[in-house]
Amino acid sequence: MPTNEQAPVPVIDTSVASVARVYDALLGGKDNYEVDRVVYRSVLEASPEAPRTATAIRQWLVRVVRWLAGPAGMDQFLDLGSGLPTVENTHEVAQRVNPDARVVYVDNDPVVSAHGRALLEENDRTHFVEMDLTEPERVLAHPAVTENLDLERPFVLMQCNTLHHLMDDENPYQIMKTYVDALPSGSYAALCHFWDPAEENAEFSAFARDMEQRLTGSTMGSGRFRTRQEIRSYLDGLELVEPGLVMLHEWWPEGPRLEPLTNMDQVFLSGVAQKP
Ligand SMILES: C[S@@+](CC[C@H](N)C(=O)[O-])C[C@H]1O[C@@H](n2cnc3c(N)ncnc32)[C@H](O)[C@@H]1O
Repeated sequence: MPTNEQAPVPVIDTSVASVARVYDALLGGKDNYEVDRVVYRSVLEASPEAPRTATAIRQWLVRVVRWLAGPAGMDQFLDLGSGLPTVENTHEVAQRVNPDARVVYVDNDPVVSAHGRALLEENDRTHFVEMDLTEPERVLAHPAVTENLDLERPFVLMQCNTLHHLMDDENPYQIMKTYVDALPSGSYAALCHFWDPAEENAEFSAFARDMEQRLTGSTMGSGRFRTRQEIRSYLDGLELVEPGLVMLHEWWPEGPRLEPLTNMDQVFLSGVAQKP
């Protein structure tokens, strides 16, 4: 099993909610504390079916990775903000399609690191590094990344449900631009982001604004719902593949939808784009 010599001793702050642990609660996991469940319950108050959306996000991720590892021929994945291991993780999906696919996970949450490392580092093609994704130059130069991925060859940059946890003063646009600039031609970026459909749907825009206040006003302290234009700007310099920047269920669904959309389903935009 690969090792990561840089692994710090985990320091888990249970006085404030963490994004990874709240998301774990929404996915029905056990790696969360009461402080996280306070945020979870606030989300449920506004959107009782939010756990279904969390599941829909993971189903979207599976469809995206399966396509990238299969028809798109990608065999290297840099998964930023991997989250706690769940039912289907990027490496499981990619390596089922292509056993040689290599995946490096990056997350800065010590619980993800402590509980996730063993499971995510299942084989010599799967690695985890505890780092802050807001430091793209450091991430892209880290030995766990450079020794396991060939960044001179096309790779997949996964930025799924991460940038909305960066507030505007953290300059998520510039951070993403640095990653996109580093992509060799032929690479892909996969993006999923909280959406404020202000120009398209007043009802769901109001819902997004309320949810943003619940999240940013909680001890978790982040969760920005951005406009379509802002989200599209994270993919500047890339060409969106069909069907473009769409709601989760619209990105190549498995088949007819059997359940109605939740309000939470309607405030996410997702897409995959390629570097020309
Ligand atoms: C909502 S989860 C998404 C997990 C997974 N990407 C998905 O879409 O299902 C966001 C993850 O990003 C991580 N994250 C948030 N900010 C981060 C940062 N600055 N550096 C590294 N990871 C971060 C959190 O710890 C969390 O695990």
